[in-house]
Amino acid sequence: MKENLLTLFLTASLSVLAQPRQETILTDDWRFSRDQQTWQTVRVPHDWAIAGPFDKKWDLQNVAIEQNGETEATEKSGRSGALPWIGEGYYKRTITIPEGCTHAELLFDGAMAEPKVYLNGELAGEWAYGYNTFRVDISGMMKTGDNLLEVHLKNLDESSRWYPGAGIYRPVKLITTGDDYLNPWSTYIRTTSIDGNIATIDMMAGIGSDLGDGQDIEVELHDADGRIVGRQHDSELSDGGAVFLTFNVENPHLWSPETPYLYNAVIKYTKNGQLKDQISQKFGIRTIKISKEGGFQLNGVTRKIKGVCLHHDLGPLGAAINKSALIRQIKMMKEMGCDAIRTSHNMPSQMQMDICDSLGMMVMAESFDMWKYPKCKNGYARLFDDWWYLDIQNLILANRNHPSIIMWSIGNEIPEQGSAEGKALSEQLQQACHLLDSTRYVTQGLDHAEASIESGVAKLMDVPGFNYRVHKYDNNIKQLPQGFLLGSETASTVSSRGIYKFPVVPDDNSRFASWAPGYDPHALEKADGQCSSYDLEYSPWSNLPDDDWVWQDDKDWVIGEFVWTGYDYLGEPSPYDEYWPSRSSYFGICDLAGLPKDRYYLYRSRWNKDAHTIHLLPHWSWGVSKKDEGNRIGKITPVFCYTDYPTGELFVNGKSQGRITKNPAERLDRYRLRWNDVKYEPGEIKVVVYDAQGNKAGEQTVKTAGKPAALKFDTWTANETFKADGDDLAFITVSLTDADGTLIPQADDQLTFEVTGAGSFEAVCNGDATSLESFKAPTMKLFNGQLVVVVRSAKTPGTLTLKVTDETRNLSATTTIKVI
Ligand code: GAL
Repeated sequence: MKENLLTLFLTASLSVLAQPRQETILTDDWRFSRDQQTWQTVRVPHDWAIAGPFDKKWDLQNVAIEQNGETEATEKSGRSGALPWIGEGYYKRTITIPEGCTHAELLFDGAMAEPKVYLNGELAGEWAYGYNTFRVDISGMMKTGDNLLEVHLKNLDESSRWYPGAGIYRPVKLITTGDDYLNPWSTYIRTTSIDGNIATIDMMAGIGSDLGDGQDIEVELHDADGRIVGRQHDSELSDGGAVFLTFNVENPHLWSPETPYLYNAVIKYTKNGQLKDQISQKFGIRTIKISKEGGFQLNGVTRKIKGVCLHHDLGPLGAAINKSALIRQIKMMKEMGCDAIRTSHNMPSQMQMDICDSLGMMVMAESFDMWKYPKCKNGYARLFDDWWYLDIQNLILANRNHPSIIMWSIGNEIPEQGSAEGKALSEQLQQACHLLDSTRYVTQGLDHAEASIESGVAKLMDVPGFNYRVHKYDNNIKQLPQGFLLGSETASTVSSRGIYKFPVVPDDNSRFASWAPGYDPHALEKADGQCSSYDLEYSPWSNLPDDDWVWQDDKDWVIGEFVWTGYDYLGEPSPYDEYWPSRSSYFGICDLAGLPKDRYYLYRSRWNKDAHTIHLLPHWSWGVSKKDEGNRIGKITPVFCYTDYPTGELFVNGKSQGRITKNPAERLDRYRLRWNDVKYEPGEIKVVVYDAQGNKAGEQTVKTAGKPAALKFDTWTANETFKADGDDLAFITVSLTDADGTLIPQADDQLTFEVTGAGSFEAVCNGDATSLESFKAPTMKLFNGQLVVVVRSAKTPGTLTLKVTDETRNLSATTTIKVI
């Protein structure tokens, strides 16, 4: 059997261990079925629904979305992705228990949903919430040698407000040990103080097996180079089987998004001098404080949180997680200057948290989108009473050593927030978090400012988090004893990559909202399922990025924000909830393929302090591609520049359109440079930017494209080498360009893909929310000139070749990647 075997022991220890701990990730050789009749072989992580086909019948709903202010039910399509995730799914495979092994566990990082786990036909364990990690002890049921593992999953209709995915979409580990073993979830490492050049680390470590005689737990702290910076042991285990140690680390390397330094704690359990078990746990040394006086402080330094909300899906990969795909997400956000993510609205994967630790990304780890009161018919509310504590417990025990996590969130826009019941529940949940982890602040995202303050909910949270409604911040803060507040969810600005609509005016999309004063019952008839990339469209309950920044900049007591959202995600196609076809969101700063929209550069111009941003929009090729409906020659075509510089002068074919400077007094001119009266003529636009002293600082030119002539590739891999492990993914952006490499910005050519050699085709995505082409079929239309092909490495080294063909233009091109 092909296994990915991780034997955690140092070789030196193996000789003294009778039964070494083995951790095996169960990746290959799973059999999967929807009906227990026909089975196919799959690898895990697996999402059974992502290949489609897209169809509105899968998740058609007749509902009123109360969170959006609706009171009357209407037909909603694509709300959870228009993919076949509802229903049951069955997985099975053989697992092998080594001779002499007496204790074994399965560790699931999440399975969608309501997983029931069977060993040799008997129920071994179950969980309910599809997002949580859980453990199943199979010691009492297993036999040496081969055992049949089966997992049954069930997804109810109307159980999610977005695409939840379906299947065993996160890794499963088999962990085997001898009789005496450590419990990794008893490991709890925290920085209690950093005083001058000494950091004090409090640590708990414990066993999972029974207490006995002659026991000892020793902990070694290693720095990133493996040097021992602390070693202690204790033979007096508490009744619960744990030891409590305190370390003083000299000249500590502090963890931060800018310096994600990780230490490693090596924990050894011995009995009568014999090594029984050994585990290691990475950790960071850092402190967090949030106060009226200092706002949010990391390692004693005040900073505003520059965060984005992320749903868990990975676009064309669905919910099935993959390390390279997650690294791509986080790196792209970091390059924008983002320093935090909110795992909206559920528990994150361990893989993602490891990546956030090592790349340097702070995290608000969330738990629930609802408590007792349902936001959708079959949502978590069904499970809340029986499961909430267990869910919070697993979230925190599994994650509390990640330095990246700076706060826990107990909920998002919980309907009970305005009631006495909501207050009692908030207290209970927050207290549970504090008991399991005394070091982190607890928040929740509140969308009813007045009601949640009135009920006492906002006042009792460690961190009062408000979703949208920035115009209420001033009133909120006056009533909050904490003296600060967080924009737990901001913006909800919508756009489609490469789409520009005219005239260019702020638009709150209220014409699509039946409850809003601006409602137009015929708006959908005129709609095209796209939003404009001039970044002036937002939801009627929300606002533009600029509106948030005024508060972030002008008020010390606003400790930061989490923008809705970093990436487009499957489902929730507002403002097109009632428009078909549309099956994914428009909120993303990047599209569903991970390509940056213009908005990316707006945030970058503000957030990234290490590099300058000069970004012009729109494209300047009106009338070049066959798709273009109208030639814009002579028509007003505003030009915006997103830049950190204060001043810029725009030229159209060499003619100045004026030099302008950002103006803090105007809503849209404080953070953007805008030339609103430019008339389109083919050729080029050029911006020259100036710093605060009036010195020329840089320029950018956008040209009108010539005839479509070439397919251009831009390949992204997580590491310098593309690994021959069968698990590495490369993301290849394909663009149609003219002979000089200028994008043909409205092209929608149908492309086909063929992958040969040391890898395979994995998925393709063009970021078009209205596309019904499968992500898993090797053909797709370009969306505004671009798409992204995802390829998977083989397990044997060689060369992977991607061939892309554009039959309509008689073009084809190949690119290769070395698989090492
Ligand atoms: C918020 C909600 C998010 C998402 C967003 C869209 O109210 O918390 O989950 O629905 O609106 O604007």
